[in-house]
Amino acid sequence: MIKDALTDPYGRVLNYMRVSVTDRCNLSCMYCRKKGIHRYLPSSAILSYEEILRIIKAGCALGIDKIRITGGEPLERRGLLSFLEKLVVIRGIRDVSLTTNGIKLRENLRPLKDLGIRRLNVSLDSLERNTFRHITGQDGLGVVLESIEEALALGFSPLKLNMVVLGGINDGEIPVFAELTRQLPIHVRFIEYMPSPHVTLDMRNRILTPVIKRRAQKTSLLIPIHDKDGSGISERFRFTDGVGEIGFISPVSRHFCQACNRLRLTADGSLKPCLLSDRLIDVRTCLRDSSNGLDLQTCFKKAADTKPGFCHTKNNMGLSLPVIMSAIGG
Ligand code: 5AD
Repeated sequence: MIKDALTDPYGRVLNYMRVSVTDRCNLSCMYCRKKGIHRYLPSSAILSYEEILRIIKAGCALGIDKIRITGGEPLERRGLLSFLEKLVVIRGIRDVSLTTNGIKLRENLRPLKDLGIRRLNVSLDSLERNTFRHITGQDGLGVVLESIEEALALGFSPLKLNMVVLGGINDGEIPVFAELTRQLPIHVRFIEYMPSPHVTLDMRNRILTPVIKRRAQKTSLLIPIHDKDGSGISERFRFTDGVGEIGFISPVSRHFCQACNRLRLTADGSLKPCLLSDRLIDVRTCLRDSSNGLDLQTCFKKAADTKPGFCHTKNNMGLSLPVIMSAIGG
């Protein structure tokens, strides 16, 4: 263990950072942002890749060893692969993964594999062309499915499919998604929709995990998988004869704050200690204006020291995101 490891006041060791490289996205998912109304950050506000790498190096010196690249849609940012090339060789990094909507994934799979990246999360909320278009605003199901097939053929593992369950919109597909894991070595993760003031969906669209779980077991019972690494963010299961697995992520009905070992870096250069809190530590100023006297490691320590012990909103059922998800990548 690193001497100066980032530990928060509740004893959680923070070794995982989610890095948003852009707030731009080529989809407009209805649970994430509104089409048209949403404004992107000006490019001057976005960190350069060099700046991101400096921040990550400072985090690694404090024990960050696991990085997930998110967006927006990370593959929308030019030069991502050369950035990843520099990222994967940083000393101390043990795991680099990517969350993507899969639209531009296919042509990037080979280079990602060559860089040693194996873990991919693909957001996929429907297997029906019209529902996919309705949710995302794009007729993109075909290319996403091709990306997924190709990723499996190339041996990416684990390949996780994130499905945000929306009542009355895609909840009818829960059993179909669950069934995929019988034949395919994928991890389907059902995610409770977190209401956000930035989108037009409402409480009627929300379905909580107990109901999702019941529907996923339409054909047979799910067997629990016990987490070896104890990260506990998702509850994991599989069918007895299944090659893949099924996870339930319940940000609304079952907080996982106790197991939360993560920090987030926003595309415009703030460390965000908790997804559900609006607290931000400005790292960009620290990078660009050395006169403020703070160094990067101090920013990380500040983020760890101010990480809330429990989600901001104590009332689980009324939980509402203070962020535009498209800018922070979940
Ligand atoms: N509720 C739940 N999950 C969300 N995501 C984005 N917005 C929401 C929301 N309102 C998740 C999706 C996506 C990931 C990047 O963030 O699962 O796959």
